[in-house]
Amino acid sequence: MADLDLEAVRDLMISVAYEAGAMMLAANPADIDQGTKLNSVDIVTEVDQAVEKMVSTRLSEAYPDISFMGEETYKPGMRVGPEPTFIVDPIDGTTNFIHQLPDFCISLGLAIDRQPTIGVIYNPSQDLLFTAIKSKGAFMTRGRSSAPQRLPVSRNPQPLTGLGTALLAIEWGSDRSGSNYELKTDVFKKLAAKEGGMVHSLRSFGSAALNIAAVAAGWLDGYWEGGCWPWDVCAGWCVLEEAGGVMVSGNPGGWKGELEERVYLAVRGAPSGQKELVQQLWDIMGDRRMEYSV
Ligand code: IPD
Ligand code: CA
Repeated sequence: MADLDLEAVRDLMISVAYEAGAMMLAANPADIDQGTKLNSVDIVTEVDQAVEKMVSTRLSEAYPDISFMGEETYKPGMRVGPEPTFIVDPIDGTTNFIHQLPDFCISLGLAIDRQPTIGVIYNPSQDLLFTAIKSKGAFMTRGRSSAPQRLPVSRNPQPLTGLGTALLAIEWGSDRSGSNYELKTDVFKKLAAKEGGMVHSLRSFGSAALNIAAVAAGWLDGYWEGGCWPWDVCAGWCVLEEAGGVMVSGNPGGWKGELEERVYLAVRGAPSGQKELVQQLWDIMGDRRMEYSV
């Protein structure tokens, strides 16, 4: 598929994202049927499923040769192959969606050779769109009739100067017990306290894609999480890299992040200090690691 027109694919993904956003906004919260997956905080609604159906139908009609992986049709053992693959979370931030907190989005990625190559993230409540194509830059559009703005938002991003001046995103995720939970909560506690660098503060948008987009924009210095899936990060990863940011492993030593690793650390674009910030966060973990399987 060497002749794939990435701009045309991106434009279709944006159109699909807008349709998905309309479906989310049209859903009446009082009527949303919801269920749970792994536990009571791993929630899925009929809207997640309906959006994924619409997305997979539209994308596969236009691009029948591109594989599709979506959160709601994922089966254990499915892997991202080297062939072009749409990687889709129909609603990222489902918990916010059911509470009607306006921080939810659709996350539409295209991976080629397992590398995030197109990213489209759309938050319909704020009419906020993030897009990127590999090697073509990252953009944010605030309001559909506005002109896209290049990311990062600052034309002159400041150096990163370590955890002590950082605003970081973290997430509780849906695992609320066990060794991953113990490690995550210990790192949260240390990050906030003097012994771990005393970050400016910790934030949680409740959507991995929106956290990564905020790092790409330069609003946040980093985002650390374990337990996400490729559909949570693929689109944001492309936007982040195109905005000068880096995605590494959430576990110590993994300078090259892997799409299916399930533990991630995103750091914003900066003229210096990216590696030092990564190392400082990894140092808090010591020899401990988050362990998640695909
Ligand atoms: C979740 C959100 C959340 C993150 C979880 C994800 P969902 O996705 O991105 O912020 O902490 O790891 O699974 O369930 O809202 O699609
Ligand atoms: Ca989801």
